[in-house]
Amino acid sequence: MAMNRCRICDGDVVEFFDFGRQPISDAFLEPGHVDDEFFFRLAIGICRFCTMVQLLEEVPRDRMFHQDYPYRSSESTFMRKHFEQVARRFLETELTGQDSFVVEIGSNDGVMLRTVSEAGVRHLGVDPSGGAADAAAASGIRVRTDFFEESSATDIRARDGAADVIFSANTTSHIAYVDSVFRGVDALLADNGVFVFEERYLADILASSAFDQIYDEHFYLFSVRSVRNLAGRFGFQLVDAEHVPVHGGAIRYTIARPGQRTQTPAIAEFLAREEAAGLTDPATFERFATDVRTIRGDLMELLRRLRADGRTVVGYGATAKSATAVNYCGITEELVSFVCDSTPAKQGKLMPGSHIPVRPPSAFGDPYPDYALLFAWNHADEIMIKEREFRESGGRWILYVPEMHIV
Ligand code: SAH
Ligand code: TYD
Ligand code: ZN
Repeated sequence: MAMNRCRICDGDVVEFFDFGRQPISDAFLEPGHVDDEFFFRLAIGICRFCTMVQLLEEVPRDRMFHQDYPYRSSESTFMRKHFEQVARRFLETELTGQDSFVVEIGSNDGVMLRTVSEAGVRHLGVDPSGGAADAAAASGIRVRTDFFEESSATDIRARDGAADVIFSANTTSHIAYVDSVFRGVDALLADNGVFVFEERYLADILASSAFDQIYDEHFYLFSVRSVRNLAGRFGFQLVDAEHVPVHGGAIRYTIARPGQRTQTPAIAEFLAREEAAGLTDPATFERFATDVRTIRGDLMELLRRLRADGRTVVGYGATAKSATAVNYCGITEELVSFVCDSTPAKQGKLMPGSHIPVRPPSAFGDPYPDYALLFAWNHADEIMIKEREFRESGGRWILYVPEMHIV
């Protein structure tokens, strides 16, 4: 078993799964331009000392996040509503002052800040992905196309003053240099301000064997325990944790300067539950590894049988998650002929690694396939309602978490 050093505390990291050579999950390819594709070793482990679950190899940040980064948060109606609620809650609680100021790390197309901007509250989105930042700016949101880190945060503080809220969703865990993020938060946050971030929850990922949540962008998989340790290391205190039912299960962490806020009982409750669930226990990770191999076996057996029987199968949702699912399982265009996705920047491109074509959702019913493999399983309710005709006409959905099943 390989031994590595923790990106945060320099402790020993024990590897628990190796997906092998994997592409950049959101690097969709132009047909005919597949030769210089970038690959890295996707392997994951847990730090024996601070308990942070992390990747063992880091992909350079500007290979992932750049002008053409295709992900757009606003493709999901459910997520648009979720972030509108997040914004409303801030507007009613932390941002009621005369000249309140909120900064978002990883603002993408403005899915959260849109509501803040419409309320006329001072804000700044920070996101290095130019296309996404341009989309936010086009809807009137103030953005800085940049990586949030200590230097950019210090500059924002000098220009705009201290932030009452620093918010981030599905981004803090993407940043391997999270030490620099925390020093940046220290430079930018008001004395009694809060740093709030939502991230997919390790306990949910392990409980549902959601191996496809592991890919290049998800450098860390957070737990309440590891985030408490992380915050403490950089002079902050974890004061609240709240479970949120998005992306298959996430936690909203609230961090403040020591002594500024009272810690809610939720922290101790989560820590006890994580202990009971064996979240740092090697046996838990062994079970996860076994379950993931079972899913791969079951899914590939099904897809090969359907192909042998002359059934048609297409994929639904060209998610970042699908890069791991497709390339780890070994799914090819022979088994899944194309993948539908509503994101314009992904359509007409090829999936990373497998080179399976991506088509618009209009291709789905033209004609409907016999089976659809739902890669965007976290949006199952929304997609199954939108595509209800598929099932009504005899089509069936294939899901692979928490285990392979057909509905
Ligand atoms: N917050 C949105 C977007 C998540 S996608 C949501 O929850 O849906 C992750 C985003 O983080 C991308 O838009 C990416 O460009 C951005 N990002 C990556 N590294 C960053 C950094 N260091 N600072 C700010 N944003 C970053
Ligand atoms: P998502 O699961 O949010 O994230 P990730 O890429 O991090 O795994 O991605 C959902 C994808 O599914 C996105 O590319 C948009 C697409 N999608 C549809 O095609 N139709 C839909 O109705 C929804 C909700 C998403
Ligand atoms: Zn560590």
